[in-house]
Amino acid sequence: MAYSREIFQKAYKIIDDRRNSAQRLAQQHTDEVYARIPQIEEINRKLSSCSVAAARAVFAGGNTKEELEKLAIISAELQMMQSQLLKENGYPVDYMDEQYTCPVCRDTSYVERDGKTVHCDCFLKLLADCACDEINKLSPLKLSTFESFNLNLYPYDSNAEGVSPYSRMSKIFNFCKNYAKNFTGSGRSILMRGATGLGKTHLSLAIANELLSRGYYVVYVSAPSILSKLEKSHFEYGNNEEEYLMDTLCECDLLIVDDLGTEFTTQYTKSAIYNIFNNRLLKQKPVIINTNMTMRELEATYTQRFVSRIMGSCDKLDFIGNDVRRLVEQ
Ligand SMILES: Nc1ncnc2c1ncn2[C@@H]1O[C@H](COP(=O)(O)OP(=O)(O)O)[C@@H](O)[C@H]1O
Ligand SMILES: [Mg+2]
Ligand SMILES: [Zn+2]
Repeated sequence: MAYSREIFQKAYKIIDDRRNSAQRLAQQHTDEVYARIPQIEEINRKLSSCSVAAARAVFAGGNTKEELEKLAIISAELQMMQSQLLKENGYPVDYMDEQYTCPVCRDTSYVERDGKTVHCDCFLKLLADCACDEINKLSPLKLSTFESFNLNLYPYDSNAEGVSPYSRMSKIFNFCKNYAKNFTGSGRSILMRGATGLGKTHLSLAIANELLSRGYYVVYVSAPSILSKLEKSHFEYGNNEEEYLMDTLCECDLLIVDDLGTEFTTQYTKSAIYNIFNNRLLKQKPVIINTNMTMRELEATYTQRFVSRIMGSCDKLDFIGNDVRRLVEQ
């Protein structure tokens, strides 16, 4: 994935902070131990002279094997004495070591792989998290969970079509819970349809919350705001935000596009939507699409072919009931 310079800077800052605080803490612990157990400071001084002597022996060349073995035995003994002293004084043996968040790269972001210096996996994960945070900043993610979804807000009695909103919404609720439970990052998508205030955003964010807590990379966007952002960067000279936004939208494990159809449609926004959905559907990467448009309205805005392509990959959930916003806000 491509990321913006800001995302890189943010990730580097986090990893630098991690490394610095691990080193600061190790130094504090060392100072504390030296103050309490002066013998350990002495042992550490001897240990450093051992490594200096070893380096010197290697540098001088000649028959160093014997000399190095001797030094290795001495340092092993010194280390053992040190561990013993730490234990006797109630400290863990690694008390003075740096406790890095990622022991693999020691919070430097780099590792050697096949003779090349590459970014550590922890850093790639951090970049993805930062990109995810950036996009999710605007969503009311924390408030919408399955636990806070109240089915009693939907009427029991059948509506004009002979369907009880309560029973329909119970099925939808269970469907969404199972979807989150069985999510693997690949598979079917969901189309949530229905009037405003029936809980579409709430349930899609409940799915997002659960998947985020399981470590999936979930991105929530509202169609009008993401499309205008993409369009703006597309036509603005020197703005390369479009590429990394597109990358994030296409590569995340789950993309939630809220309020599809309420955007101001242009040739550009239509083709951006086609690209994002096509790209994801080809790779079996799931999308949750929310809309209050009817199928016919969607077809009129996009094309019949495109809508039927989406429908083929989506389970359709038709939300019914009365606008719950008034009930919830009371
Ligand atoms: N069944 C529900 N239980 C509790 N709160 C709900 C429920 N449905 C919707 N809400 C709340 O009502 C408001 C509007 O719901 P929302 O999910 O935005 O509806 P929609 O996306 O269908 O327009 C939100 O604050 C949401 O958290
Ligand atoms: Mg909504
Ligand atoms: Zn790492």
